[in-house]
Amino acid sequence: MNYIIVDTYKELSKKAANIIVSQVTLKPNCVLGLATGSTPLGTYSNMVEKYNAGDVDFSKVTSFNLDEYVGLDSLHNQSYRYFMNENLFSKINIKKEKTFVPNGMAENLIEEGKEYDRLIESFGGIDLQLLGIGIDGHIGFNEPDKVFTAETHIAELDDSTIKANSRFFNSEKDVPKQAITMGMKSIMRAKKILLVANGKGKKDILEKAIYGPIDPMIPASILQLHPDVTVIFSKE
Ligand code: GLP
Repeated sequence: MNYIIVDTYKELSKKAANIIVSQVTLKPNCVLGLATGSTPLGTYSNMVEKYNAGDVDFSKVTSFNLDEYVGLDSLHNQSYRYFMNENLFSKINIKKEKTFVPNGMAENLIEEGKEYDRLIESFGGIDLQLLGIGIDGHIGFNEPDKVFTAETHIAELDDSTIKANSRFFNSEKDVPKQAITMGMKSIMRAKKILLVANGKGKKDILEKAIYGPIDPMIPASILQLHPDVTVIFSKE
């Protein structure tokens, strides 16, 4: 595992964007796995800057997002589809039909999960997966559990996750209690993984995940088994 520590969020965002842009430069038709949350925002704005400067072309890229809240449609301003459209997809030349986010409004969420995995598989899997980490150690919405779940599945959100994510909603009770998330199989089959985390609040859980035992109660700890992980942590 390549563990890079930088001082500022600005540096983290630049480095992460450089890694993603390099991936797209090396393989223009690559498959990117993308994440939401506040941490990747700076990465996305740096990617947009590089696109505007003419340094990168996303027209052949396909993307798969990690997760979506159950019950929020693409127009809800807290849905992850909305987040991605607003913060990245509408600002670069990726083709909208090549951007995939699980559908949290699907009538049959179990089928939606299976279809999502089939779709990822049909593109040959993910080349580079971007991840954040939750304060409980979750990646995507793979919450602490007795087991790691391989497939895309419905996750019951932990109280700590609901509390942490309530900052984006009017109140805690507005935060959906469930999400549909990519499972560990598609994440771990990604050829490369880039995890970004910032601030003191994330340091403990991040280091438990990197250095502690591999334990489904700390979902990100499974990344220790992956051969090509880069973690960028910024102190502030
Ligand atoms: C959400 C997302 C995760 C993300 C986490 C951390 O719960 N499902 O993919 O990593 O938030 O978010 P933040 O970067 O805002 O701390």
